[in-house]
Amino acid sequence: MKILGIESSCDETAAAVVEDGRKVLSNIIATSLEEHKLYGGVVPEIASRRHAECISGVVEEALKGANCTMADIDAVAVTYAPGLIGSLLVGVNFAKSLAFASNTPLVPVHHLRGHIASNYLSGNVEPPFLCLVVSGGHSHIVAVKSYTEVEVIGRTRDDAAGEALDKAGRTLGLAYPGGVSIDKLSPEGNENAFEFPHPKVSTSVYDYSFSGLKTKVINYVHNASQKGESVNTADLAASFQKAVVDCLLSNLELAAKDFGYKKIVIAGGVSANSKLRAEAEKMCKNNGWSLSIPELKYCGDNAAMIASQGYYEYKNGTVAAESLNAYATMPIDNPEF
Ligand code: KG4
Ligand code: ZN
Repeated sequence: MKILGIESSCDETAAAVVEDGRKVLSNIIATSLEEHKLYGGVVPEIASRRHAECISGVVEEALKGANCTMADIDAVAVTYAPGLIGSLLVGVNFAKSLAFASNTPLVPVHHLRGHIASNYLSGNVEPPFLCLVVSGGHSHIVAVKSYTEVEVIGRTRDDAAGEALDKAGRTLGLAYPGGVSIDKLSPEGNENAFEFPHPKVSTSVYDYSFSGLKTKVINYVHNASQKGESVNTADLAASFQKAVVDCLLSNLELAAKDFGYKKIVIAGGVSANSKLRAEAEKMCKNNGWSLSIPELKYCGDNAAMIASQGYYEYKNGTVAAESLNAYATMPIDNPEF
C-alpha cells in the first residue's frame, strides 16, 4: 500500500511516498528556515506564505521521485495538528483538494505520532515501547501500546526541551535554531563549568520543567555582563545541554523501570542531539534495554514519518471527511478531527 504524506506544521513544506508504512520511496523537503534566521525564530506569516508557494511543487516532486501518479496512491496522509495554524491549513487544504480530486481516502495524522513513526522508517522497531518525544513544541514520555494507541506518562509543564535550547541559544548569541548551534558548540566547552539544578515537578515524577534551566542561562549571562565580564559561551552551552539531557533521560529511565519497558524509542527534532543520542545509548546499554533513534534525516520535520503513521492509522480505519480542519493544539493520546 502506497501512502502520500504531506507535512506543513511549522517551517518545512514536505511530501513523501512510503510503501507499507516502512519503505520510503521519496522524501522531499523545502524549508523556509533561512528566512526565519533573520528574526531568531519562526515567523508564522512567512512560513504560511512559503508553504503556499512550495506545496504543489513539493508534492509533484514526491510523486515523481516515487515513480507514481495519484492513481498509484492508496491514501493521502496529512498533518492536521498540532502546529502553527496558518501553516497546517496550507497542507490540510492541499491534501483535501488532492484527495477529493483523485477520489483517494484522506487520513489525518497527529504530528507527534508522526515523529514516533520516524522510527519505523529507520529500523524494525514495533510497538509496544516507551518513547521520549522531544521537539520544539513538546516533551513527552509516552507508552506506545500499539501503532495507534498511545498513553502519556509524563510531559513538560512549561517549555519544551527544544524551545528551551532555542531560547538559551539566542541568549548566548548563537544562530537559530539554538538547539542545533548548542549541539555543535558543546564539544568545545566544559560541561561541568556551570551548575544547573535538577528541577522537580509537583504534578508527577515523570513530568519535566525546562523554563528554570533556561532562566539560569539568562541569569549567568546577565550577571556576568553586569560585572563587565563575559561568560565562556562554549562552557555554558555544554553545561546547559548536559542539564537538559540529564533531565530528559532520568525521567525516561525512571518511567521505563516503573512501567517495565525494555524497548526505548526517542523521536522529534531534539532526537538529533548528539549528547542525547550518546547518553541514551549508555543508559540503555547499562540496563540491557534496546534503543531506537531515527536516522538524522528523519529526526526533523518530514513527510515520510507522516506517511508511515498514516499507513497505520488508515489500516486502523481512520479516514477524514472533506470537512477536516487543522488544530494548533491536540492531545497525542486522544486526538480528535
Ligand atoms: O520536531 P522538530 O523539527 O519541529 C517541531 O515539531 O517542533 O523540532 C525542532 C526542534 C528545535 O527546537 C531545534 O532546536 C531542535 O529540534 N533540534 C535540536 C537539534 N536539531 C534540532 N536540538 C538539539 N540538538 C540538535 N542537533
Ligand atoms: Zn516536529
